[in-house]
Parts: sequence; structure tokens; C-alpha cells
Amino acid sequence: MLKILIIEDEKINRLTLEQVLKKNGHTVVATDNGIHGIELIGSESFDVVLSDLRLPGSSGMEILEQVRQNAPGTETIIMTAFATVKNAVECLKNGAYDYLTKPFQVDEILHLLKRIKEVRTLNRENEALKRRLADKQEFPEIVGESDEIRTVLEKVSLAAPGDHTVLIQGESGTGKELIADAVQRLSSRRDKPYIKVNCSALSETLFESEMFGHEKGAFTGALQKNVGRFERADGGTIFLDDIDDLSRRMQTKLLRAIQSREIERVGGTRVIPVDIRIIAATKADLRELVEEGKFREDFYYRLHVAKIMITPLRERRSDIPVLIRHFLSLFGCTKTFSPDSLPILKRYHWPGNVRELKHFVEQLTIFSGGPTITIADLPEYIKKPSPRAEFPDAFNARLPLDELLCQVEISSIRNAMEKFDQNQKKAADFLGIPRTTLRSKLERYQHHPVKKPHE
Ligand SMILES: Nc1ncnc2c1ncn2[C@@H]1O[C@H](COP(=O)(O)OP(=O)(O)OP(=O)(O)O)[C@@H](O)[C@H]1O
Ligand SMILES: [Mg+2]
Repeated sequence: MLKILIIEDEKINRLTLEQVLKKNGHTVVATDNGIHGIELIGSESFDVVLSDLRLPGSSGMEILEQVRQNAPGTETIIMTAFATVKNAVECLKNGAYDYLTKPFQVDEILHLLKRIKEVRTLNRENEALKRRLADKQEFPEIVGESDEIRTVLEKVSLAAPGDHTVLIQGESGTGKELIADAVQRLSSRRDKPYIKVNCSALSETLFESEMFGHEKGAFTGALQKNVGRFERADGGTIFLDDIDDLSRRMQTKLLRAIQSREIERVGGTRVIPVDIRIIAATKADLRELVEEGKFREDFYYRLHVAKIMITPLRERRSDIPVLIRHFLSLFGCTKTFSPDSLPILKRYHWPGNVRELKHFVEQLTIFSGGPTITIADLPEYIKKPSPRAEFPDAFNARLPLDELLCQVEISSIRNAMEKFDQNQKKAADFLGIPRTTLRSKLERYQHHPVKKPHE
């Protein structure tokens, strides 16, 4: 409902109005003094000011002026017992929404308020629509209606045009690469080279040659000169994906190149200047990695300029239905989900985030029969309540926290390996960890005894 300020010195009138408006669900603040009214307009925000024309302290005209200057979104209705055509015209000319001649019927004022409410709702919807349309034009490929995704897009719009480093943080499958691409596309370097580096796939030995290039004969097997990624990105943008997977040695080398904006090819003697914009993505909190000694603090500060955090899908569930519709149409599928299946899909915790949802929709479009995808088509693990809710805690499990976490990790990995028929790539994607990490964990846990809680 509306928040209304009544400025009226006649006590009976003021109290009656206050009572009627409150009874109709509005929030009401009332005063008998024009100066106090003006103070209130300056300090609080109202949808409507209902003011007498003749007041102690100031006049209705001054109130109108105050609203025009300090509260342009507020509507003013003037009440007057001295209605003359001149007064009325004067009020409207000064921006009043309307005026009422005393004595007036309660219905008259309620009718005016109803009209104001309708127009305000319409305006708000219009604004939301316009904003959504603007988002769509700027980011046609990024789908979502949640406040969280809207904040991300606003940040992208703000950060993209400059040359500063952008750091994108989010769990696996939340859309980090999609956002990185949007930053590049909206930047002034959009027509320049855009080089993507998957840091988790870089080998320690070939790192420098990959990034900075090498001269012919620089090492055994270097039969040709090789131009590295930094040099290829010159004038444009480099996207350092999974930067949290870089070893400390690689961090040091990268930091040096980024700081000096110069590189040297392996086996080369020349220093080559490079002009690049950096976009980096991380699934881990780099600050935590710094505290654990796994990430160089100076590198962290170098990256931490414009940070964009993408919320996991389970914390912005209102995006799930629109994403489902988007993916159905992306896969050219005319099927729809039955209304009772949507709450189940919204409840599931989507550990693999949007990527998992996308694969899920794709699979269903292939395997479900009939024009409607129903609850019966949904796999059991989606229908079951989220396993997160079932996690034991250290107290109930009577295990030391370290061991408990280890057990949770083992069972998550085994479940994922089972779910994806021992396919390490798919299991790693699902768990949101690089395949190399999964492999080392599998080796480490191969002979680890499975302890049951309560034993
Ligand atoms: N908001 C979104 N709208 C439409 N598609 C999305 C959205 N977010 C993610 N996707 C899609 O989900 C998939 C995963 O996104 P992306 O590869 O950008 O995630 P990521 O965070 O880089 O994941 P990872 O950490 O595993 O590399 C892609 O196919 C992407 O197009
Ligand atoms: Mg990615």
C-alpha cells in the first residue's frame, strides 16, 4: 500500500483522515504544522503528501515546492476549503497531482489514492521491463532474473569498458567463462585478440614456453619458434581460467610478466613489451588460499581489482525456471515441464550449478517421451531431498573433524564416480574440481578405510 504524509492543522480532519487511511491499509504519518511537514519530506520518503493549503508555519504551495525539489517521486494532493479556480489552477501548475475541496467525501480521497497506486505499480513494472530489455540486449546469452544475477550484470557493465583486471569467482558451472566473455565483448578491446588459458591444464615444464613462447632450439624438441599466449594476446585480452590451480612457481612467473607487461621467450634474448587486459577466474576463494600459503599475496592483490562474485545456483533458485526454458529452446525442444515438477527442480541443490542444469535438460529432451516432462521422467537423485541436509556433523558422527571431512570427500567422490560410470572427466566436472585433482584424490583415498559414523 502507500506511505502517506498528512499535513493538516484542523485536528478533527487530521485524525479522521488518518484513521480512514490506516483502515484502508496505508501507512500514515501526520503533522499539524507546515514546517514540520517540510522537515519530514526532507528526511523520509512518501508516496503521497496530503496537505492543507493554509497552514501554520508555511503554505501548501511551499509544501509543493519542497516536494518538487526534494522528493520528485512523491505525489501531492492539496486540500482546501478556499477553493477558487485560481487556487486550483495554481496548485496543478506547481505540480500537484490533484486537489480536493473541503469538505470532501472519504471515497473521493480513496479513489484518488487508488489511481495513484495503479499508476505507480504500472510505472514500476515498466521500469522492470525496460531494465530486463536492456539486460537482454547487452547480455542476450546470460539468462536469469534473480537480484544476484542482476548485480553480476551491473558489475560487468561497469567493469568491462576500462582496462583494469577483472577477477571472477564462482563455483564450477556458475557461468564464469560466460561472464568473462561478456566482459571482453563489452570492452574497447572487443575486436582485438582474446586468448583463453586453462591454468589447470598447464604443465609445470611447458608453462613458460606456452605462456611466453620459445625460440627455435631453446630446448630439446623446440624445432620451431613458438609465439606464446601473452604475445598472441598483445593489444587484446587474456583470460586466465582456473587461476587457483596455478602452482606457486607459475604464479611467480605470471606475476612478473603481468607487473612488467613484458615477456621474454624461452631461449630468447629480447624483452618483448605486451599490452594486455587480464580477466581471471577462480572457483576457490583466493584470500583463503593466500592464508593457507598456496597463493602469493602480491599476486592476489594484483588480481583483486574489480571482483565479480557469481552466486551458486542453489542460492538464486528463482533463476531455475527461466534457465530451464532457455535451455529447452536452445536445444530446439518444444516440450515443457509439468507444473508439479518445477518445485522439485527448484528444490534440488544443483552442485554442478548451471552446467549441471543444462546437461540435465539436454538429457531429458532426448530421453523423455511425450510433449510434457513429468515427475516420472525425473531421476531419483533429483527427487530425493538434498544430501546436504543429511550430512553428519562431527558431534553426531563422533569422528574428529578432519576424519569426518575426509569421509564426506571420499563418499562424494565415490558417488560421483559411480554416477558417471567411472568417467573421471565427468565426475570431476560434477564435483567442480580439475581432473588432475580428482585423480590425485582417488590415488590418495584408494586404501583409505571407510569409517562409518557412530562406530
Ligand atoms: N546465466 C546463464 N545463462 C545461460 N547459460 C548459462 C548461465 N550460466 C552458465 N550458463 C551455461 O552453463 C555452462 C557452464 O558455464 P561456464 O562454462 O561459463 O561455467 P564456469 O563457471 O566457467 O564453470 P567451470 O568452473 O567448471 O569452468 C555453459 O554452457 C554456459 O553457457
Ligand atoms: Mg570455466
